[in-house]
Amino acid sequence: MSGLLMGSTRAYYGVHAGDWAELRRTYYSDAVSDAILARARPGRLLDVGCGPGFLLTKALADPRFPRVTGVDFSNSMLTLLRARHENGHKLDLRLADARKLPFRDAHFDSAVSDMVLHHLAEPWNGLAEMARVTAPGGRVVLSDLRPHAHEFFREDLADAWLGFDEGELRRWMAEAGLANAQVEDVASLRATVVNGQLKHADVRVFVASADRL
Ligand SMILES: C[S@@+](CC[C@H](N)C(=O)[O-])C[C@H]1O[C@@H](n2cnc3c(N)ncnc32)[C@H](O)[C@@H]1O
Repeated sequence: MSGLLMGSTRAYYGVHAGDWAELRRTYYSDAVSDAILARARPGRLLDVGCGPGFLLTKALADPRFPRVTGVDFSNSMLTLLRARHENGHKLDLRLADARKLPFRDAHFDSAVSDMVLHHLAEPWNGLAEMARVTAPGGRVVLSDLRPHAHEFFREDLADAWLGFDEGELRRWMAEAGLANAQVEDVASLRATVVNGQLKHADVRVFVASADRL
């Protein structure tokens, strides 16, 4: 990701850390994080771009995941999350970049990511990192958007990609050493509020999952 683009994404989430909870609710439903967790393998779970922790909070309450690690490059997001999960004995939070995860190879049973890939200028690098830290037999699962034409997502939401072509995503997954890819629509992002203004959007949200070879 270019330094400029990465800086603006981090700045966006720095500013919106406090109200992202409310913003997210207006964008898409909990069905997305539920679908991700349902497809993850039980065991050690990594959440890349965990933000204020919608998915991560559910994972912490789920006995299938005895150890949950969250990574985000926004300190403001992690500060919120730490305050919410004080004394969380099964939680490990790290300030780090999705492009260079601070974990050894094959450390997790699942690496998941909820609406983060479109922020990466080189999403294939983020996918390769998720695959690298996932153990053979484990699973990579992520949500993102189908291709759309809402240009205002770039400036107003700090998105680098206006959704993803399924064929391209499948190719990146295969190149990262992932097999048996499934890409399923699970929800729609219906509207978005930018600076108090409702701007229309209607984009399908998919969950992609694949096995680490
Ligand atoms: C759309 S929010 C999603 C947050 C959370 N996954 C959720 O479902 O609510 C995107 C998150 O990805 C983080 N992020 C974006 N680019 C990142 C990168 N290169 N490395 C780490 N985190 C990143 C942002 O700071 C933000 O918290």
